[in-house]
Amino acid sequence: MGAEEFIPDQLTLESLREAASGCRGCDLWEDATQTVFGDGGKHANVMLIGEQPGDREDIEGKPFVGPAGRILDEGLEAAQIARTSVYVTNAVKHFRFTRRGKRRLHEKPNSQQVRACRPWLQAEVETVRPSLLVLLGATAAQSLLGPTFRVTQHRGKVIPTPLGIPAVATVHPSSILRAPDGAAREEAMAAFIADLRSVKRQLG
Ligand code: URA
Ligand code: SF4
Repeated sequence: MGAEEFIPDQLTLESLREAASGCRGCDLWEDATQTVFGDGGKHANVMLIGEQPGDREDIEGKPFVGPAGRILDEGLEAAQIARTSVYVTNAVKHFRFTRRGKRRLHEKPNSQQVRACRPWLQAEVETVRPSLLVLLGATAAQSLLGPTFRVTQHRGKVIPTPLGIPAVATVHPSSILRAPDGAAREEAMAAFIADLRSVKRQLG
């Protein structure tokens, strides 16, 4: 199990995307519509890393184009980070879900699936060579920093990663959508924006 054997020799975003479309490194490709590879500038200086594609992303084939993507866009705009200047991807490239009638409900990828998919993330980082990574939620953070990392303890701060590129961790935008009421949601959004402003300051 694992994506290693599918990684092409030549690392370009085009060759990676093409190869990832045929990845069978774990069982998630079987039920999903397609591989949702990262998207954005070849030489973007910041790479945003989410968890896995959601229902919309699975259908459209692009990361963060659904409800979580709207929250992300709102946050980036408030922090004055142009979405066109970033590369956006996920820790896991296929949508994991359970069927509930006609609906497909998001299910968190397990640690083996996250590990299986990590070679793609690593190859994207090596190819784009951003100056900063933004870890959106626990799955992205744990993919790069291990299971003991706690976003709540480190959010908004610059931390080193084993890939040699520093990162800022924050919450996943979907957690803001799940806030129990309007006040909690506003507070969560303000904290998310504060973390993205810290990203902006790092970029200078
Ligand atoms: N959530 C993610 O983590 N990634 C997406 O691409 C969409 C929703
Ligand atoms: Fe390959 Fe990742 Fe999809 Fe698993 S989730 S099949 S490792 S691309």
